[in-house]
Amino acid sequence: MDDEGSNNQEHKALLRKPFPPRRCHKDGVIVRAVQPSSHGSLIAAPAAQTTTSQPPLARHASPARGPPLHPPGQRLWYASSTSPHTPTRPRAEEDSPLLRDWLLRRVALQLLHPSTSRVSCTDIAGRLFSTTPRRCNDVTLTIDGKEVTVPAGTALIQACEKAGANVPRFCYHDRLAIAGNCRMCLVEIERAPKPIASCAQPVMPGQKVFTNTEKVHKAREGVMEFLLSNHPLDCPICDQGGECDLQDQSMRYGSDRSRFNEIAGKRAVSNKEFGPIVKTSMNRCIQCTRCVRFANDVAGVEDLGTSGRGNDLQIGMYIEKSLNSEMSGNIIDLCPVGALTSKPYQYNARPWELKKTESIDALDAVGSNIRVDSRGVQVMRIQPKLNDDVNEEWINDKTRYAYDGLRVQRLTTPLVREGDRFVPATWEHALETINHGLAKSGAKGDEIKAIAGHLADTESLVALKDFVNRLGSENTTLDVTNPDAPIASGVDVRSNYLFNTGIPNVEEADAILLIGTNPRHEAAIINTRFRKMWLRNGANFGVIGEDFPSTFEYESVGKSAADVEKFLKGDAGKGFAKTFAEAKKPLIVVGSAVTEGKDAAAVLKTVSEFVLSKADKFLTPEWNGFSTLQRAASRAAAYDIGFQPSAESSKTSPKFVYLLNADEIDPSSIPENAFVVYQGHHGDVGAQYADVCLPGAAYTEKAVTWVNTEGRTQLGRTAVPPPGASREDWKIIRALSEVVGSPLPYDDVYQLRDRMWDVSPTLVRHDEVDAPSPETLRAGLEALAKADAPSPSNEAFRKPIQDFYRTDPISRASVTMANCSKAFAGGQSPTPENEAREDDKRAAQEDAAKRASA
Ligand code: SF4
Ligand code: FES
Repeated sequence: MDDEGSNNQEHKALLRKPFPPRRCHKDGVIVRAVQPSSHGSLIAAPAAQTTTSQPPLARHASPARGPPLHPPGQRLWYASSTSPHTPTRPRAEEDSPLLRDWLLRRVALQLLHPSTSRVSCTDIAGRLFSTTPRRCNDVTLTIDGKEVTVPAGTALIQACEKAGANVPRFCYHDRLAIAGNCRMCLVEIERAPKPIASCAQPVMPGQKVFTNTEKVHKAREGVMEFLLSNHPLDCPICDQGGECDLQDQSMRYGSDRSRFNEIAGKRAVSNKEFGPIVKTSMNRCIQCTRCVRFANDVAGVEDLGTSGRGNDLQIGMYIEKSLNSEMSGNIIDLCPVGALTSKPYQYNARPWELKKTESIDALDAVGSNIRVDSRGVQVMRIQPKLNDDVNEEWINDKTRYAYDGLRVQRLTTPLVREGDRFVPATWEHALETINHGLAKSGAKGDEIKAIAGHLADTESLVALKDFVNRLGSENTTLDVTNPDAPIASGVDVRSNYLFNTGIPNVEEADAILLIGTNPRHEAAIINTRFRKMWLRNGANFGVIGEDFPSTFEYESVGKSAADVEKFLKGDAGKGFAKTFAEAKKPLIVVGSAVTEGKDAAAVLKTVSEFVLSKADKFLTPEWNGFSTLQRAASRAAAYDIGFQPSAESSKTSPKFVYLLNADEIDPSSIPENAFVVYQGHHGDVGAQYADVCLPGAAYTEKAVTWVNTEGRTQLGRTAVPPPGASREDWKIIRALSEVVGSPLPYDDVYQLRDRMWDVSPTLVRHDEVDAPSPETLRAGLEALAKADAPSPSNEAFRKPIQDFYRTDPISRASVTMANCSKAFAGGQSPTPENEAREDDKRAAQEDAAKRASA
């Protein structure tokens, strides 16, 4: 009784105490404390600070910039206001040296930069801890009688996984900060009075953990009872049905009756409007805050948060608005229940009806790994596939939702121009027409020109180049701004046009200079890694080029090619210039628009000279600090096979033009009287100039090779057959070569890949990146530095992508992308004509869907 009384008094005294700062612990040492800012977000604060206020809208686990918080495989610890297991303050002897160090640095920094208003406690705290790399010991513990050894600081749930024990979870996610909200991951620890949330508990040496006892089972049943007490029973109409974590876990821990009887009825929460992609049904929300943590940490859209406490806790925004992020679709995957589902996919299919095909995305040059879910001949949805070296488990919204563009505006049969209209034709007729057109045009040698576009696959690029070469022409080019200019980076040394650093390695960089590129639109997946670096490692960014709404802070250090020279050769006395000069692993990323523009040679020359002069930092066996960021899926492969015009051929005016998926062409590059063939899957821009259109297959309809911006070769697979009479692209070119009387020497894809091996072995070495050696990098850069280049101009670099949602024929045909463009990118205004056009598209889409299901 006495004990109980004193416990109560202690409890009351605790309640009267000021609300403690939220702390991030790891291995018993504070790595950063998190406190609410005045505007409601959580910012990192020095460990000594305390706060007495609670934020009206707490963004759970929204980390501000900070140190490298955990080695791979370990978790960043976040205390949640709702977690009764908030980690305790570390011992004073561990804490005080860090605090003293922080205070000394803060005083020094303020003396050095009295006017630097941008330097915040957050920045100082970030620098403080990132300068002391943490030593990581191993910890051995026993889980269900099985001994496992994991690095210190590992979450218990990860150790359980390693021991083969399955622990249910809702809020915990491998790639997000820890919240400890749901309590579903309870386990029993020897001598602990109560079950412990294993995701919010770091491993301890000698611990004995039990994951499958009667007590654990009962505790999880209790949690499930709480969760289900307010969860609507609408599984039959919920889109998450069949792939719902709550549904799955309730099969094991749920009961058909509850001890709760809410007098006022079940909790009701109004739905939110998150835009054209995410459909909300907030009654189903179990407040795991995965969506909040993703939006804040990964997507960099710090709008989403929680408001209210306990039963009134709600997910939402201060001001109701759409979730403006190119990564927003990922919160649908993360939501463990049906609170966030996909609007375009709603009520369309059930997961068990779908055929799942693993493939590669072709709508940018990252080569994200995807899973294409199809039913019959239709792609029903696209999901990410895990690949830690490329896209982790995220994909951008264009990759995920442009698939409805695959159903409309397709070329399904060959078309031959008659007067001012196209008439459908058989393959034989179309190929014969091209043969006659070629003969009639009188094109000889370089007068035959091939132009390849963004979505051309490697097999068709090799076949087209071989075909054109067999006809005596070297006139092959790409649909870039200056198609007839030689490629400034050259095609002889791979490292001159690839992202040499490698996608996962960018996270090691400490200062990054972006030249003429907006990674958020050109490579959204790589941009999430940039945000991660900025947030966790305190990396600094400088940008030369047009400003863009980034998900990290950067300093604008110029706009044009002349500014590149000024920055690299200029004074490195302050700001980003100083940080860049002092960086241990600096990185220069040159945008593809720059390498294709008129200042390309000048910029590459300046950058090469600079990198060579700092070779000890940029070109070491461990670090490649010079990269080019491509934005088109076909580009790296096209350069690999030398798909560029020779100096002679580029001066020749073509009489016969072959457009392979070329939809970004400048019409002035096609002479009026030339005979034009367009091969592609959509009747997009290129088709307007054609005399004959040949229907090809889209990326989900063929098994072909893609080379991404870092030079990684990956194999896409056929998820659905090409519609109508359309065919795989390399087969079309092979058939045409036969009709023209110059047959290509391969009859199947294996023979074609043998030919690709001859051209470049990297094209058939799948899922590998041949990292260039420092010697190769140096040789390539020396060639660029020696090249003749005009003086750099003062013309500002322009962003190559103005509207992220409409960059290629597939996304331009997509209704979902049109809606996103309208909502976020200032795309087509909703005029009656546009609306009518979209209604038509939607009707066509529905028709196609009906036909397919029939
Ligand atoms: S909406 Fe989904 S992901 Fe977000 S907190 Fe609720 S249950 Fe979790
Ligand atoms: S509390 Fe551990 S998974 Fe939610």
